[in-house]
Amino acid sequence: MTAVARGPVQGMPFPGTHEGGDRPGGAALFPAGVPAREPGPALIEFDRVAKVYNAADGRPVRAVDSVNGTISAGEFVSILGPSGCGKSTLMMMLAGLLRPTEGEIRFKGKPVVGPQEGFGIVFQDPVLFPWRTVQDNVRLPAEVRGLHKDEQIERARAMVALVGLRGFESKYPSELSGGMQQRVAIARALSLGPSLLVMDEPFGALDAMTREQMNLELQRISLESGATVVFVTHSIAEAAFLSDRVFVMSGRPSTVREILTVDLPRPRAIEQMNTDKFGVYVSHLRSLLNSHGDLSCVGSRSLRRAAPSVCGSRTARLLS
Ligand SMILES: Nc1ncnc2c1ncn2[C@@H]1O[C@H](COP(=O)(O)OP(=O)(O)OP(=O)(O)O)[C@@H](O)[C@H]1O
Ligand SMILES: [Mg+2]
Repeated sequence: MTAVARGPVQGMPFPGTHEGGDRPGGAALFPAGVPAREPGPALIEFDRVAKVYNAADGRPVRAVDSVNGTISAGEFVSILGPSGCGKSTLMMMLAGLLRPTEGEIRFKGKPVVGPQEGFGIVFQDPVLFPWRTVQDNVRLPAEVRGLHKDEQIERARAMVALVGLRGFESKYPSELSGGMQQRVAIARALSLGPSLLVMDEPFGALDAMTREQMNLELQRISLESGATVVFVTHSIAEAAFLSDRVFVMSGRPSTVREILTVDLPRPRAIEQMNTDKFGVYVSHLRSLLNSHGDLSCVGSRSLRRAAPSVCGSRTARLLS
């Protein structure tokens, strides 16, 4: 597998996109020292995507409303938003497990109308078969695909090694910690070499230390596999740490409030979280999530004004 160098990628908004006031398309908060990489061809396109559920009481629930945006091959994009805003709904539509009520999601230019080959999906619950060993859980997609048994085993071994579980191939899920089980789920999702990894709060149930470790592991795995990752999280720091871009969602009905480019070199070390620059990203994301009104005016200008009180004068100079 080849390592992929990730970098800041500017978005390519659809006309009428809600991508945030004076920074359309996800421009970086910081003036770039070098020109931002030109966006690659769009792998995923969200085109005015909306979802209306019919609730049990018969009333329509508009969960997602007019989501626009594109994601390029090799990007790591996080979807960050308040609880109940529609993140899982958006992920299920992307994964082809749910149909949009309006608009369209396209993968490699074709509408997503059902589960697709080339997608790996990881949910908050690892959903492992307790009667199968680690290796047998990981080789399940290859078995379902009908690959030769030797190839199933070879792929499973490689993926187990990639997620750092070499030596645990013959263990059962009950013999693993929560973090190890989630690694098995990630290995299974990667086992057929997906071009897209869809992850819905995969680390939500883990303790803080394990979560931090898993963030480092996921960064390494995504760089080594080269897979495009769309990652749902509640955690502002996790989103800023892992992502090339963060799609910040509004409350329900959810739409893209702003796309923030995180211009930090990779691989990122945990210590990066202690830097002023990281602090500015976190403050900005928090200000977006904490606001209840129209946030389109909360852009880099207002952040620059707020920076001295939020992050100290050194960071304020970085922003000016
Ligand atoms: N099958 C359904 N029928 C009716 N309403 C639904 C259904 N599924 C989800 N909803 C509603 O749609 C909204 C979005 O739900 P969703 O699970 O996508 O939110 P979320 O952002 O993933 O939340 P969380 O962060 O808590 O996981 C919620 O208000 C939820 O009540
Ligand atoms: Mg959810």
